Amino acid sequence: MSHDTRPLPRQRATEIANAFLPERFWGSRWDYYYVREKLASDPLYPGVLDALRGSSAPLLDIGCGLGLLAHALHRDGQSLPYHGVDIDAAKIARAHSAAQRAKLAQAEFATADLAREIPRHAGSVAILDVLQYLSAEAQRRLLDAAIAMLTPGARLVIRAALDDDGRRGHYTRLGDRFAHLTGWMPSAPKHYPSTEALRAAFNNAALQANFAPLFGRTPFNHWLIVAARPV
Ligand SMILES: C[S@@+](CC[C@H](N)C(=O)[O-])C[C@H]1O[C@@H](n2cnc3c(N)ncnc32)[C@H](O)[C@@H]1O
Repeated sequence: MSHDTRPLPRQRATEIANAFLPERFWGSRWDYYYVREKLASDPLYPGVLDALRGSSAPLLDIGCGLGLLAHALHRDGQSLPYHGVDIDAAKIARAHSAAQRAKLAQAEFATADLAREIPRHAGSVAILDVLQYLSAEAQRRLLDAAIAMLTPGARLVIRAALDDDGRRGHYTRLGDRFAHLTGWMPSAPKHYPSTEALRAAFNNAALQANFAPLFGRTPFNHWLIVAARPV
């Protein structure tokens, strides 16, 4: 299965970004511009929306950051109960207030360090651009836990930069290091998952999985991986 590799239309990106405007005109507009440009340039969200379409299972968004997926789902007419968790308490607070502003009644957020605790959940799971911040062992634990959460018809949607010695792998590592050095990403990347490790986890659980490149116009080695129990 291939996915839509175009980003969201700029108008949709701006509508979502509006929820991240400061309450007073002198407040910081950093999140607003970040969200607007990220959504208008990254093919991630249309790919994930495609992958989740047709399922009404509640969604756990692991490492949710500012909770952009909750906004993208809402604007796409997918009204799933959404629970986002992230280690960054400041981001979670901003995600919470933007979701309230956009009246996302079904969205909830909490702080959690996934290397130490994995929330309980039953339904679909999204793990978008997060695995590389966990050790190989923590990744295995998280994947096994996420697989155990899948209910019939639910989906496990992962975007990951897969381990690769090529040019794309090199640019991915540089991009992640840059995000860490500039302070945008407090965590430094620890381990990039391999295709083989992910396939082994899915095969052990008898899941069907589809791997599709999601490079868009970026130089990064991003793949969208969708796994589910066979029907
Ligand atoms: C590249 S961002 C992706 C955010 C979001 N998934 C998205 O696609 O917009 C990676 C996120 O993983 C979070 N993260 C990193 N290490 C974590 C950990 N140990 N536990 C929970 N979240 C973590 C970061 O705080 C950050 O928000």
